[in-house]
Amino acid sequence: MRRFSADYLSETRRGMWEHRDALADLQLASRERVLDVGCGTGELTRVLREESDATVVGLDADPELLAHADADERVVGDATRLPVRDGAFDLVVCQALLINLPDPRAAVEELARASSDLVAVVEPDNAAVTVDSTVPAESRLTERAREAYVRGVPTDVDLGADAADLFADAGLDDVRTTRYDHVRRVEPPYGEAELEAAARKATGERLADQRAELAAGGVDGDAYDALRAEWREMGREVVEQMQTADYEREETIPFFVTVGRVSGRDA
Ligand SMILES: C[S@@+](CC[C@H](N)C(=O)[O-])C[C@H]1O[C@@H](n2cnc3c(N)ncnc32)[C@H](O)[C@@H]1O
Repeated sequence: MRRFSADYLSETRRGMWEHRDALADLQLASRERVLDVGCGTGELTRVLREESDATVVGLDADPELLAHADADERVVGDATRLPVRDGAFDLVVCQALLINLPDPRAAVEELARASSDLVAVVEPDNAAVTVDSTVPAESRLTERAREAYVRGVPTDVDLGADAADLFADAGLDDVRTTRYDHVRRVEPPYGEAELEAAARKATGERLADQRAELAAGGVDGDAYDALRAEWREMGREVVEQMQTADYEREETIPFFVTVGRVSGRDA
């Protein structure tokens, strides 16, 4: 199982659900029992609780992440073998979970088993992420690293829009998909987290974390060393531009909200 740090999750989700129209099909106001599967630190759990009066249960395989989640109940468990009875929730949802699973199809079947009504998944297409930056090398280098990572990672990290196919296979009806772009902007005045992220960029730490996937994606040996050297130089330029308040960056991560209904229920 791919591991995530609590800091990484809270940082990458920052501001994600400032606009919530794309969640309309989840009908949150009328939900009674909601299960957030693979909730991590509870970034979506918080939104589910803010938008509904439901009892919201957070479930994750990683107890350390789960301890951060502000849910009505927290359950340690596996998304492909949910420790809940059939139809125990009227909404079973996940965010950025399927892209991390070797068998996302089995997980969707399990989400459907646990629901009496709606199933929803919020999944990105990580192959289609774009970065615009005032440091010209940043867009090019992030694209090169991303392409290698997507090739090398063993799970389907660009699943996004294709979740609807899994819903159809799981027998879910009335399936709808809404695209939602999470736009992450960095601009002056910079926050503490942004300054720290820039300092980390200058060390090439993130590339080092992804070294195995980059190697599997064809960037190994000298190619990896060259990429890391360029990356660190780019990071130093980011830090320099931040010192004069000239740095701006916009990253767009396309997410897809797919919602379906358990068969036999009316829309
Ligand atoms: C990218 S994080 C997403 C966390 C959260 N949903 C969010 O959007 O911030 C993926 C989460 O799935 C969890 N996870 C991975 N495999 C799992 C499994 N088989 N069962 C339950 N949780 C799992 C990880 O521990 C992690 O918290």
